Amino acid sequence: MPTAEQTSSTSLDLTWVRAQFPSLAQTVNGQPAVFLDGPGGTQVPQRVIDAISDYLARNNANTGGAYATSRNTDAMIAEARAAMADFLKCDADEVVFGPNMTTLTYTMSRAIGRELGPGDEIVLTLLDHDANFSPWKALEEKGVTIRAANFNPADCTLDMNDLARKISSHTRLVAVGYASNAVGTINSVAEIVRLARQAGAVSYIDAVHYTPHGLIDVRALDCDFLVCSTYKFFGPHMGVLYGKREHLKNFQPYKVRPNTNNIPNCWEWGTLNHECIAGIKACVDYWEELGRRARPSVRTRRESIVAAHEAIHPHERAMAERMIGGLLAVPGLKLYGISDPDRFDHRCATIAVRIGSHTPLELATKLGDRGFFTWDGNYYALNVTEQLDVEKSGGFLRIGLVHYNTMEEVERLLAALREIAGV
Ligand SMILES: Cc1ncc(COP(=O)(O)O)c(C=O)c1O
Repeated sequence: MPTAEQTSSTSLDLTWVRAQFPSLAQTVNGQPAVFLDGPGGTQVPQRVIDAISDYLARNNANTGGAYATSRNTDAMIAEARAAMADFLKCDADEVVFGPNMTTLTYTMSRAIGRELGPGDEIVLTLLDHDANFSPWKALEEKGVTIRAANFNPADCTLDMNDLARKISSHTRLVAVGYASNAVGTINSVAEIVRLARQAGAVSYIDAVHYTPHGLIDVRALDCDFLVCSTYKFFGPHMGVLYGKREHLKNFQPYKVRPNTNNIPNCWEWGTLNHECIAGIKACVDYWEELGRRARPSVRTRRESIVAAHEAIHPHERAMAERMIGGLLAVPGLKLYGISDPDRFDHRCATIAVRIGSHTPLELATKLGDRGFFTWDGNYYALNVTEQLDVEKSGGFLRIGLVHYNTMEEVERLLAALREIAGV
């Protein structure tokens, strides 16, 4: 989905990209490993690994101390925050670091929930990962009413009429995913943010699945909160939350007394994972270099990140088109989600399928033995597998492509699946 920031043409140097990721060179049973498990967590470039170990080797300390390694730690966290602010297009004090998206969402749901009670409503969707569902549903214990919008089973797109109907003057918060980690649908989040605002409700966007595939611009989106996980976009295992400054100031976190009232630190409890924060800075550096190589005329870090997305988008799209076309030709295969290439702007390259009587686990195991890393099950998108009635029979086989995958890997996966399916 190109945005106003995306303008001139760019190119992706896939050889350079793959050389950045040491894990991509592994083999399984003599076959090259093919990482199609990005939706569960992507691989990391060497610079992220180096940044984590360099931090531990040279600067390992707690924050706020009057000595060199502690000062270096403070400076490193500030740099990483500024880098993430460019990545999301916000200010650095609107960036909150946390262990993962789920924990950050429970943090916010408890703080926002303090102010809610009977008569207040929260609108969720059945297409979302459970991490953007259960933390809000827990507020039923305070008398809050939860309304969950459905999705269209035929193509796994959100039922926007149902969603619009469920948002009312009682709605206090609308929580929705940017893209589905199960079936790849990209939701009309700008429209949903607008509907929430019109009703006087706060919007909370789970961008975990979208972030490796599309540019985030929280200012253009005008959302109130947006959460993502750096381990899904080539960084270490951590979560990041954007909150509009006014909200981070006005909502009251549960916290220990020595924690200051300053944002964003009042939302960051205890000692953070400093080595991973060093890795987050290196992860944004990777995006920046990817963009600079794709379009050498870029001037700022943000422009580089925009250029990086411009470069990866056509590659991911071409792989998705070939993969989905090839999958649909496998007899007995059922694809869940958008399959019409004319509508691929509304999906990312995350593909859920089932094949005949094979269970997803059986398929994933056979693929795994051949070096293809895919997922089976519900990936915590429990409402999706329940609504589509595949939960009891093992969910889906999920094939996830990111920009370090290749067209050759797509062809090899298709050949392996045809063989396994007995075609
Ligand atoms: C769409 C989506 N939201 C939320 C999460 C939870 O993220 P975390 O593991 O950072 O808590 C995931 C993890 O797979 C996800 O795919």
